[in-house]
Amino acid sequence: MNQKLLDWFREHPDQYISGEELSRRLQITRTAVWKQINVLRAKGYAFDAVPKLGYRLVTQPTRLDEAALLSKLAPGTFGNRLRILEKTESTQNEAAAWAKEGVPEGAVVLAEEQTGGRGRQGHVWHSPAGKGVWMSIVLRPRIPLPYTPHLTLLGAVAMFRAMKKLTSAPLGIKWPNDILADGKKVAGILLESAAEDERLLYVIAGIGISVNLDSADFPEELQERATSLKIVTGQEVDRASLVAACLQELEQLYRLYEEEGFAPIRTLWEAQSITLGRQVTIHTPQGPLQGVAVGLDQSGALLLKDKTGTVQKVFSGDVHFSG
Ligand code: BTN
Repeated sequence: MNQKLLDWFREHPDQYISGEELSRRLQITRTAVWKQINVLRAKGYAFDAVPKLGYRLVTQPTRLDEAALLSKLAPGTFGNRLRILEKTESTQNEAAAWAKEGVPEGAVVLAEEQTGGRGRQGHVWHSPAGKGVWMSIVLRPRIPLPYTPHLTLLGAVAMFRAMKKLTSAPLGIKWPNDILADGKKVAGILLESAAEDERLLYVIAGIGISVNLDSADFPEELQERATSLKIVTGQEVDRASLVAACLQELEQLYRLYEEEGFAPIRTLWEAQSITLGRQVTIHTPQGPLQGVAVGLDQSGALLLKDKTGTVQKVFSGDVHFSG
C-alpha cells in the first residue's frame, strides 16, 4: 500500500512534498498519507518534516541482502544455509521448525523485524524493522544435556568479539550472556533446545543485537536499560558485516569448544566479564541472592560468595549490580 508513496519519494530525492500534494497525487486522504509515513518510519525510513514545505525522504534502511551477506561469510559451515525473512514472529520458531525438518548444523534464520521476539526469562525482545541483528542459528552439539549453559557463555563471547571487531563500543559481558555498553544492554543471546531421552536433538542459538536503533526507537520503559551500537558510538554499523563476524566468531569458538572443552571458553568469558569481583544481587527463581561474584565453575554456573564467606553456585537469574 505504501509502495506508491515510497516510489514517489525515491524518484524525487532531496525534494520536499506537502501532505496535500501527496494526497492529491496518490488519491488518498491526508490522514492516510500521514499514517503511511509513520508505517515507513517504523520500518526504518527517516523523513524530514518541515511546516509548509512537507516531507522529504532522508534515509532508507539498508536491507539485509542474501548475496551481499554470503559474499562476506568466511569459509565454514555457519551461514551456509540462510533464510532472510522480512517479518516474522520470532526467528527462534522458524529455526526450530527448520531443525525439525533436519536442516544441517549452522543453518541461519535472519529477520528484518520480529513481532514476538523473546528474550531470557520470559522477557520480550524489542526487534524493530531494519535496525538490528535478529538471528537464530541451528546447532547440533554432541554434548550432554546439562552442558548446554556452556553454549550460552560461548555465544556471549562470540558476540562480544564480533562487535569489538566492527565498533569501538565500550562493551562488557554481564553473567551469563548480556552484552552491556555504557551500563545498558546492547545484545543478548537466548538458547532453546529440544531433547529426547536426555539426548540433545538440536539447540537454537538466538542472537539479538540492537545495532542502528535511535533512542526514540526503544519503548519508553526500555530507554533506561537498553541501548544500541549506534547510540554508544555515534555511527551506523553495517549489519551484514556484523552478521558475518558473529557467525565467524561463533563457529571458531564452537570448534574450539568441540576440541578443548569449556576451559578456554571460560577463560575468554572471564576476561571480558564485568560481573566478576562485583557486589551483586541475583534474582533467581528461588528468590534474591546477594554476594560478590567470584568466578565461574566448570558447568558455567556463577560462583557467589556471601558475607559469611560461603560460596554457592547460581545456575540462572538476573544479575543486578549493588555496589
Ligand atoms: C536475552 O534476553 O538477552 C536474549 C535475547 C535474544 C533475542 C534474539 S533476537 C533473535 C532470536 N529470536 C528471538 O525471538 N529471540 C532471539
